Amino acid sequence: MLKAAAELMQKHIILDTDPGIDDSLAILLAAASPEIVVDGVVSVHGNVSTEQTTRNALAVLELAKAGHVPVYKGCDLPLVKESLLSPETHGDSGLGYAELPEPLNQPGAGHGSDYIIERIMSEPGEITLVCIGPLTNVALAIRQEPRIVENVKEAFIMGGAIQYPGNTTALAEFNTFVDPHAAHIVFHSGMPITLTPLDVTYQCVFTKDDLNRLLKINSPITKFIADSTRFYMEFHDEYQSIEGCVINDPMTLALTFMPEICDYQDLVVDVDLSTGVGLGNTFADFYNYEKKPKNMRVAMGVRPRLFMEMFLERMEKLAQGAFAQGSESNG
Ligand code: RIB
Ligand code: CA
Repeated sequence: MLKAAAELMQKHIILDTDPGIDDSLAILLAAASPEIVVDGVVSVHGNVSTEQTTRNALAVLELAKAGHVPVYKGCDLPLVKESLLSPETHGDSGLGYAELPEPLNQPGAGHGSDYIIERIMSEPGEITLVCIGPLTNVALAIRQEPRIVENVKEAFIMGGAIQYPGNTTALAEFNTFVDPHAAHIVFHSGMPITLTPLDVTYQCVFTKDDLNRLLKINSPITKFIADSTRFYMEFHDEYQSIEGCVINDPMTLALTFMPEICDYQDLVVDVDLSTGVGLGNTFADFYNYEKKPKNMRVAMGVRPRLFMEMFLERMEKLAQGAFAQGSESNG
């Protein structure tokens, strides 16, 4: 009876992602979180090409013994801008120094944005979108089927920097800079959005001490985390003098089942589409000078160790095989 009740409480999510090192950690956290069910993963361009993000999503799901979760390939390019990838941050493979076997599974037939539409429209009010890459797929889905805006349960988005410096330009965060036009469409769609900006994710640094705690467990999971985050830590040290690495994406996913990690403000948020230095910059009209409706809930305060302790505990359990579920292949 308890299991049935727990299953009823589970959130069904679609993960739209550009794995990517921190995206991969979000996939591992999803596999270790019984509060959520990943109905499907949709890949997008961003940290690396969509060919690579699709392969990485399949490979990391299989590493997590979640190969039954389908992956659908999404957009290869931003809606308007030229492609921008970040091999300096995530490595040419997108997984840093980690090496995973070629995945057993293939991506599902059809475009990722069509999958987003099909799932949301087939279960109105039941599907939660978790968007941890550029928003190209979600924007395309909104333009193809505007009714997903009122039929999605809610959308959790990793992106933007409100009162915090950019991590890609002086002002702009990577996901909103890579595809600002997609971000603009999604931000102004009316979709119920919770935004997780750099303002809070940069308080959540995965350190060498955190890694050493996980490495007490000898497992392909902990080896993957070590090999991928070692590259990510080198990037953060070289470019931002941070000791450790900022794990933006698992923190965003965590808010779907542990909202108490953050404090929130309902705000009027916009993204700059001008072609100057501000392109992709996100900002909030805190005093609402233009009397616009507040278009999202923004995480502006965070309890970093509350998140990190939960993340580490769940990675330990995953590494110990506590969540092995489903078959290796979704074939
Ligand atoms: O700015 C951080 C975001 O950009 C994260 O989602 C990271 O994976 C990259 O996509
Ligand atoms: Ca990402």
